[in-house]
Amino acid sequence: MRRVFGRDEGGARVRALGLDFPNPIGLAAGFDKDAIGYEALGALGFGFVEVGTLTAEPQPGNPMPRLFRLPKDRALINRMGFNNRGSAEAVARLKRPHETIVGVNIGKTKVVPEEEAIGDYVASAGRLGPFADYVVVNVSSPNTPGLRDLQATDKLRPLLGAVREALNEASPARRVPLLVKIAPDLADEDLDALADLALELGLDGIIATNTTIRRDGLRSDASEVERCGAGGLSGPPLRERSLEVLKRLRARIGDRLVLISVGGIETAEQARERIEAGATLVQIYTAFIYEGPGLPSRLAKGIAAK
Ligand SMILES: Cc1cc2nc3c(=O)[nH]c(=O)nc-3n(C[C@H](O)[C@H](O)[C@H](O)COP(=O)(O)O)c2cc1C
Repeated sequence: MRRVFGRDEGGARVRALGLDFPNPIGLAAGFDKDAIGYEALGALGFGFVEVGTLTAEPQPGNPMPRLFRLPKDRALINRMGFNNRGSAEAVARLKRPHETIVGVNIGKTKVVPEEEAIGDYVASAGRLGPFADYVVVNVSSPNTPGLRDLQATDKLRPLLGAVREALNEASPARRVPLLVKIAPDLADEDLDALADLALELGLDGIIATNTTIRRDGLRSDASEVERCGAGGLSGPPLRERSLEVLKRLRARIGDRLVLISVGGIETAEQARERIEAGATLVQIYTAFIYEGPGLPSRLAKGIAAK
């Protein structure tokens, strides 16, 4: 695809996960849920695009309305609930030759009971792994009941072990990098336990963070916030906690894992702050909604300029 803004910003290249990223600014999961637009999104200047969350079975997600703007906070609240056409259908679209680096984020089908969650993730990992530059186990979305409970290490250990095995089987010739995406609402001790587990299991990295279920510190009127109802909050109100989580994880793991920092990043300065605090790569979502298609290349240029 012709480059609209140019994704290679010279000084911004990053070598990580065995891949050569043209720049460290990625599109976070949940925008291209069905792996339809990643090549066009890459042409806007994103250094990589994470598609999904994909689940083993197709599902409609929650009833609408399920996505709300809080303009005073430049924030969003969403309870999409993993609306997607299912991981089997996405395979054909991921097989197409493409230039953009594509991560594939997988989650649990809503109707599948928690005790069968591993099989659901494994089915998607086996299908999608061979076509993914990296795979992310998402255990941090607030909109699938019980999903975030999978972050407890006794649940996460067998889940990640099984997904790792499924990837090795499905892609014997190329080791597919495996990351886990976590919530900002974990207690600090849980973050440490998770970092230790990631090291123990030989994961390749951690993506921090998903949206928060907290609502404190907002500028929007309480009534407006309340009207949105349940869901994950994203954008600037998440920024401070996301940075804090990044710093804590980096301190715990040293330079042993890749850390992708996401949550509230709006400017090149903020992206650079993350990289200086230990992020290997960063991702954005909410700022892309508010700012539009020029943002990824502006951020990448801003990073390269330093
Ligand atoms: C509408 C919407 C849908 C999202 N869907 C997903 C998803 O399917 N899977 C996922 O891992 N994260 C999802 N996220 C979370 C984002 O990937 C990101 O972690 C979060 O929004 C914080 O980044 P931001 O402040 O730059 O938006 C979604 C976020 C939004 C706003």
